[in-house]
This record gives sequence, C-alpha cells and structure tokens, in this order.
Amino acid sequence: MYAPIGCMKMSDEWIKVAAPATTSNIGPGFDIFGLALHEPYDIIEGRKTEHGIVISEVSGPGSDSIPKDPTKNSVAIAAQAVLGRCGADFGIELKIRKGIRPGSGIGSSGASAGGGAFIANIMCGGKLSKQETVLCAAHAEDVTSGGLHADNVAPCIMGGFTIIRSYEPFEVISIEPPKDLGVVLALPDIIVYTADSRKVVPREVSIKDMTYQIGNATALVHAMETGDLALIGRSVKDIIVEPARAHLVPYLKEAEKVAMSHGALTSFLGGSGPCIITFYDKSTHNGDVIANAIKELYANNGMKCDTWVTNCGTGCKRL
Ligand code: HSE
Repeated sequence: MYAPIGCMKMSDEWIKVAAPATTSNIGPGFDIFGLALHEPYDIIEGRKTEHGIVISEVSGPGSDSIPKDPTKNSVAIAAQAVLGRCGADFGIELKIRKGIRPGSGIGSSGASAGGGAFIANIMCGGKLSKQETVLCAAHAEDVTSGGLHADNVAPCIMGGFTIIRSYEPFEVISIEPPKDLGVVLALPDIIVYTADSRKVVPREVSIKDMTYQIGNATALVHAMETGDLALIGRSVKDIIVEPARAHLVPYLKEAEKVAMSHGALTSFLGGSGPCIITFYDKSTHNGDVIANAIKELYANNGMKCDTWVTNCGTGCKRL
C-alpha cells in the first residue's frame, strides 16, 4: 500500500531485519573463513520509496562515525547493489540501529552490508540467491573497508561457518558448526579500522608459511564438519596475519594466554581486530569464567573491555 508523502510515494510497510556480528579469518583462513555469531547484531529497517536510497536514521554505539551519505554507507551501498542486480524500479528508506560498534573486528561493516543486501533482497521478492546476495554485500565491503573480502558478509547472510572457496568465480560454502562450540568475544576499548589493519598484512609469504597455513586450514574445515572440538583448538593457528597485526591490540597475547589458562580450546585475534575471540567447549567449560578473566586482565591494565558469551549463529533474519 502506498501513501503520498511530500513528492515521494512511500510504502507504509516497514521491514525489519537483524544482521549479526561475525568473526572472520579464524586463524589460518585470512579472507576465507567466517563464522556467524548469535549476538551482538544490528537492526535494519526499510520501506520502499519511489526511487533512490535514503538513510533517515542511524543510532546505537559508534553511530556518530557512520555516514548517512548513501554512496559511503555500507547498508545503502549493498542495498543499491541488490536493487541494481534485480533491476528494481523502486528506492528504499533505511533506518539503522547499530548493535556492533565500528572498528571492532566482529564485522560491524559486514553486518551493515549483509543486512542492507538481505533487506533489499526481501523487498525484491527474494530474487537473488544467498550467494548473489553475499556478493552484493561484499561489494559494499570493498568500497568501505579497503579491499574486497566476503568473509564477514558470507556468514552474516548465510549463517554458520563459511568458506569462500573462490572470489572469481564467486563461490561460498556454509557448514553447520558443532553444537558445543561456545564463543567468548572480548572487545578492548580501542578502535582498529579494517582499512588500517589491512595495510600491515604481509604482501608475500614463504612456501613454508603457506604450507603451515593450508595444513591448519584444511584440518579446521574437517574439524568443523566432524565436530572435533579438540582439533578445532589445534587448527586455529596463524603465523602470517595475526603476528603482523598483534601490535595494534594491547595485551592481545596476554588475553589469549588468560583464556587458555581458563580452559579455552583456542583464543585468537578476531578479523582485523581489536576483538579477541575465544572458543570453548560448552559441555565442559563456562564461558563467563573466561570472559571475566579477560575483563580483569584489561581492568588491571587500566583498560575497559566489553565481553559477550555467545554462540554460533544462523545469520540474518527477518524480525
Ligand atoms: N578478513 C578481513 C581482514 C576481515 O582480516 O582484514 C575484516 O574484518
């Protein structure tokens, strides 16, 4: 149903979606592996307009730094990519409520891009496959984050543990992670922008390092498929990217050690940082104990650190 407002015809029907945080890289899978989390998440609302993309509201943590200009905003760029691909003859008004602050390393821009593409595809009658929707969202990541990477938008839209098998041609695989895989997020109170964090990644690697990463990456996929939590713990290893970024996150190594000493399976830098991700076995350990220990480490060093004890998630959903 359409009602004229000013010179623009708008739909009365608002569609609302939740777009979750994600963790990417997961040790050896730089720009390849991703995992959807249950929380935190952004809420994106949209309704059809006659033409163009307009962002009428942005709220929540870090919203001051989020541009409303649709050519610079991840939600709008991704939504526009979907409208273009579907040949849509309408525009969208968007409201964005951030639950994931920018510069966190848990896919803040990825949730925006994923949510923007997801909601636009609903408005287009679900014309695009999940993989095509991911590609539209990845385009937004390319524009806003300093490089084409789909390892946050893929799990955000598809859920579970995702593997970007290839960027050209684009192919994503999604695996359901083991049910006992618990996740602790620890977010120290600093901001690391993905574009900056990508600048310190080595441009070349030795065959020896490549072999090490591939061994761990393939073992991690097998462990996710078979639900082997101990093997997940042993396979989340990265000797190329995390070491180059470690200086960007104070007390990263100490936090990882604290997590391990409280029974974690593995603890590592989340995406481009500063978030620290810890996996633990929910059937034998308590995530709160790990979260509190990391929080205390940062408090003892005069820094605030937010934590979430959460689970693997199923991706974007309509509310
Ligand atoms: N794979 C990307 C990176 C994710 O590590 O730069 C950014 O969140």
